[in-house]
Amino acid sequence: MTDLSGRVALVAGGAGAIGEGVVRAFLTLGARVVVPSRQAEHLASLRERLGHPHGLHGLVNDIASPGGAELLAAAVAENVGPLDAVVAAVGSWWQDGPLVEVDPSEWTRVLNANLTTHFLLARTLVPSLRDRPNSSYQMVIGDTAESPMAGASLSTVTAAGVLGLLRAQSVEEPTVRINGLYLGPVITRSRPKGPPEWLTADEVGDYAAWLATEAAADIRGQLLRPPKP
Ligand SMILES: NC(=O)c1ccc[n+]([C@@H]2O[C@H](COP(=O)([O-])OP(=O)(O)OC[C@H]3O[C@@H](n4cnc5c(N)ncnc54)[C@H](OP(=O)(O)O)[C@@H]3O)[C@@H](O)[C@H]2O)c1
Repeated sequence: MTDLSGRVALVAGGAGAIGEGVVRAFLTLGARVVVPSRQAEHLASLRERLGHPHGLHGLVNDIASPGGAELLAAAVAENVGPLDAVVAAVGSWWQDGPLVEVDPSEWTRVLNANLTTHFLLARTLVPSLRDRPNSSYQMVIGDTAESPMAGASLSTVTAAGVLGLLRAQSVEEPTVRINGLYLGPVITRSRPKGPPEWLTADEVGDYAAWLATEAAADIRGQLLRPPKP
């Protein structure tokens, strides 16, 4: 019920701080894991940190470039095979000052990086999951979507946008289990310390990998807070 042997997962943002924990957990349950990154060095570092696992397939790709998501889908189909699970952990925290001081060019940049990437991934990859049994699509969503912090408006706006994508996709895609991982601050390699109640990237990853298994086959359309073990 909790084995992912023979399954293929794509972790967008898998070379990032949270994504690393997600990739590690999917590999531990036996999945092959595809990770796109804009930089080959990030993929090499990830491979080294994970101990050079056989099941890891890095692909240099910029999801946000013109045709980037389609190129990613084509490279996965050619080099790895059909996907069974996707975890979208792209985007980054933004806290650069009050909303009224945000330059419109910065607004566009951050929306592209944190929200449009999610749209492009969902648009390109969700259709390929429709015919796969128990397929799963997960979006990582910061809880700043509904708990704003001063100076972090664009993090709130983009997280709320991803929450909207989750809600919309959940009613449009009956055969794909689409869920959101709703996260507060996470302890990661970038921020290795925090209060004991914070989740670690590995704990987020363990939950995400479990959510892709048969054991979670009934869970769909949910915004989920992974439990602290
Ligand atoms: N860290 C936290 O405590 C926390 C808490 C709640 C929610 N979140 C949310 O979780 C998500 C991930 O956070 P994080 O801390 O793991 O961020 P991160 O370390 O900056 O990782 C983000 C990853 O996204 C990838 N990425 C971004 N744009 C891409 C593109 N156009 N094409 C391909 N890959 C792209 C980056 O890959 P490359 O740079 O290698 O291309 C990077 O590895 C964000 O949305 C964040 O808001 C984080």
